[in-house]
Amino acid sequence: MCGIVGYIGDGNVYDILIKGLHRLEYRGYDSAGIALVNPEGKLNVYKAMGKVSNLESFCRSKDLDAKAGIAHTRWATHGEPSDSNAHPHFSEDGNLALVHNGTIENYKVLKDALSQHGCHFHSETDTEVLVQLIEYIRVTNNCTLVDAVREALKQVVGAYAIAVIEKNNPDRIIAARKSSPLVIGIGENETFLASDATPFVEYTKDCVYLKDEELAVIERGEPLKILNLENQESQIDVTTLELSISQLEKGGYPHFMLKEIFEQPNTLRDCIRGRVVDGGKRFVLNGVLDNIEKFINAKRIVIVACGTSWHAGLLGKYLLQDMCRIPVEVEYASEFRYSNPVLDDRDIVIAISQSGETADTLAAIQIARRQGAFVYGISNVVGSSIPRETNSGTYIHVGPEIGVASTKAFTGQVMVLTMLAASIAQAKKTVPEEQLEELGRHILQIPETVKEVLKLNDTIERLSLIYTYARNFLYLGRGYSYPVALEGALKLKEISYIHAEGYPAAEMKHGPIALIDEEMPSVIIAPNDHLYEKIVSNVQQVKARGGSIIAIVTEGDKLIRNIADHVLEVPKMPECLTPIITSIPLQLLSYYIAINKGKDVDMPRNLAKSVTVE
Ligand code: M6R
Repeated sequence: MCGIVGYIGDGNVYDILIKGLHRLEYRGYDSAGIALVNPEGKLNVYKAMGKVSNLESFCRSKDLDAKAGIAHTRWATHGEPSDSNAHPHFSEDGNLALVHNGTIENYKVLKDALSQHGCHFHSETDTEVLVQLIEYIRVTNNCTLVDAVREALKQVVGAYAIAVIEKNNPDRIIAARKSSPLVIGIGENETFLASDATPFVEYTKDCVYLKDEELAVIERGEPLKILNLENQESQIDVTTLELSISQLEKGGYPHFMLKEIFEQPNTLRDCIRGRVVDGGKRFVLNGVLDNIEKFINAKRIVIVACGTSWHAGLLGKYLLQDMCRIPVEVEYASEFRYSNPVLDDRDIVIAISQSGETADTLAAIQIARRQGAFVYGISNVVGSSIPRETNSGTYIHVGPEIGVASTKAFTGQVMVLTMLAASIAQAKKTVPEEQLEELGRHILQIPETVKEVLKLNDTIERLSLIYTYARNFLYLGRGYSYPVALEGALKLKEISYIHAEGYPAAEMKHGPIALIDEEMPSVIIAPNDHLYEKIVSNVQQVKARGGSIIAIVTEGDKLIRNIADHVLEVPKMPECLTPIITSIPLQLLSYYIAINKGKDVDMPRNLAKSVTVE
């Protein structure tokens, strides 16, 4: 939700900021803007609606000479996408420009107070209130800008990652964060700041993750200084990035989403590496083994997540209940946080988040920790907020996921949950060793199995042409295939804008079957598992009502082949691993339908990759 970037140094400020904005565009693309302080102390601010490329076109004839600058790509919260609501925002005297990611919850109170002191506002945003407040404090208290920022942030309720520059000082940027991410890149004679490290990874690998309520003073030629809101200096912990630039490029694919779908054999290999050892006999998730007593004695596990990560969490419930015999509840983080949850120190909360920054999931973690639960995180982005807020956890290690529609992160999350359940089951002895060993062997083969599944690509591309203009879809599954149905429907909705519903196949007869006619295709996930016979009946029920059926089945399937209009075969797998391979044809189907409809699959409308607001 909004990306911010800043730069001071001898490089080309405009080029670095624009390239940085492109890397952060996955966070929002309602508008983009840039503020440049030129050597004569002039503050040039340029903004454009829509994507960063519009801003680039707008800037073509403009004065781009600069010694420092800040920039922003927006996902609208307060105020519609428009030029006036685009960041950077100014103080009324034009002295300061500010970019912001987050939400100032008490902005109305602050705005009313500032209006009474004669401030005029030119946008509907909460951000403009913050920049006006900082300048108001600086002028009325006659204090330094650093002190004014500190004082203003003390008055703010909400979340922020901000960067502020001043017209008359091209040699300094002030940045701060609370509950929204901000990382500072330290290069030679240059300093960067950004919502994540992608804008500066090609210039430096050294970075500092700002903590909550910390403020960074970035000055040309001076070492980085970090203060808390009480003006005490903090120690600077420099981290070395593991990210590489090739991970941030499309590598010959037309879209990040397709690249990420095809990366899955490798991402799953990276996810498994070192975690399933001795030929599949042992499961080594350090975050679990270091706390194994907690897991063995857990009275209950509560999984909290949003979107695709929630679907992975639902699979986690099936896996943990099946293998570890621990009761599991799966909650939407946004509901959990306001549900007055009852937890204690024998509960384990598992928080799942690709970005590691989802605001609702972070809030759920904080509540769980306050109530004494042990919180375990499953994230992808190293150094993000969720891994830093949890007691322990595991990275899925699938590399940066840039397409807004989550693909490789989903299979990575499910793989980690499978290994997590297996390692607890091994310690609790709730599954016989031979069975675990067989599971381990199949896990080690998963990268090769996924390669086989990806061979369906051309068939799915052709199949997609038949269904491109369907207006509604049903996705049905049972058991482990039910969360896959939910995930398949979400994929289609978010990138092709076709209405799709995921449903437990057996629930159809309690209402939704009324929707079925020849214009309502159903995608039925029906691998040969212990519910196979049951889902065959459900397939027949759909067919009897004239609905067309695309079925995902196990190789060699005979029964469903004779009923469904189209079948896509995947290799036979132990039941608990089928979601990883059955979800991949659904990712491809939604990708090609969206492409046929001419949609922007990497940046679907109204969405952003990282949801750092409520
Ligand atoms: O970063 P997170 O995993 O916490 O994100 C949660 C959801 O916002 C995310 O999974 C979203 O549903 C994706 N766009 C789905 O493709």
